Amino acid sequence: MDVRKLGRSMGAEVTGVDLGRLDDPTFEGIREAFLVHQVLAIRDQELTPAAQLAFSRRFGALEDQLNAHYTVDGFPEVLVLSNDVKDGKPVGLIDGGDFWHSDSSHRDKPSMATILYAVKNPKEGGDTEFSNMYAAYDTLPDDLKGRIAGLKGVHAVSKLRNKRVTVSSRRPDGKDFYERQKSIPDQIWPLVRTHPVTGRKALYVSPRFTIGIQGLPEAAADEILDRLFAHQTREEFRYRHKWRDGDLVIWDNRCVIHQATGGFAYPDVRTMYRTVIAGDAPY
Ligand SMILES: [Fe+2]
Repeated sequence: MDVRKLGRSMGAEVTGVDLGRLDDPTFEGIREAFLVHQVLAIRDQELTPAAQLAFSRRFGALEDQLNAHYTVDGFPEVLVLSNDVKDGKPVGLIDGGDFWHSDSSHRDKPSMATILYAVKNPKEGGDTEFSNMYAAYDTLPDDLKGRIAGLKGVHAVSKLRNKRVTVSSRRPDGKDFYERQKSIPDQIWPLVRTHPVTGRKALYVSPRFTIGIQGLPEAAADEILDRLFAHQTREEFRYRHKWRDGDLVIWDNRCVIHQATGGFAYPDVRTMYRTVIAGDAPY
């Protein structure tokens, strides 16, 4: 197995492994590289949904998918992200990840890691961007670091409760889907979390899910959140992944935010299979 750094701030590519036939020492090497590099692109894989699931489960229990409608037949933990259409209907979730976020920060146990496997890459576009939340926290101006110490963010799942995001017009059931989600309770998490394995501090907010700060009026919360959102996506913290055929990418939601960048259109099809590893309550 070979591990080579990809981005300036984080990310590495892994070559020379077959995830369908992985021995324990090699898996431990992957787990270590994942903790160091935060985002891994594991090249040249040929995986069935069952093999992706088996690899994912080595990291821990999987999350069920909120968009159950768009999972692979027979594999309720494998979500299809796609702009493909069959018989006039979308085969997958079309607007997944369209604003900066950490997966499942709106759940009572946010995700530990997310895995995407490239089933079909478009000819153009489709990159995924990542930003390093250790670096974002470490470089916060001292005044802001002081102000947010001990504060907690309010995380909401419905896009209709968040003034900073919009519902994609390309998603036919979008408005109804997010309307139903309005009654799901918010989650309250520290703005700065400690990674349970590395012990490092990471900024834990995102424009997609963080809609307020507990105990602060909206204007005061917005002033802080707007500064955090601008800071956390600075160019020097980012790594932009350009997908190759056979790529499986895994990232650590405890110290990374990410977004889909779009830039492709049907009939140029992009299809990914997504599995999500459950995590613990942030502290
Ligand atoms: Fe995501």
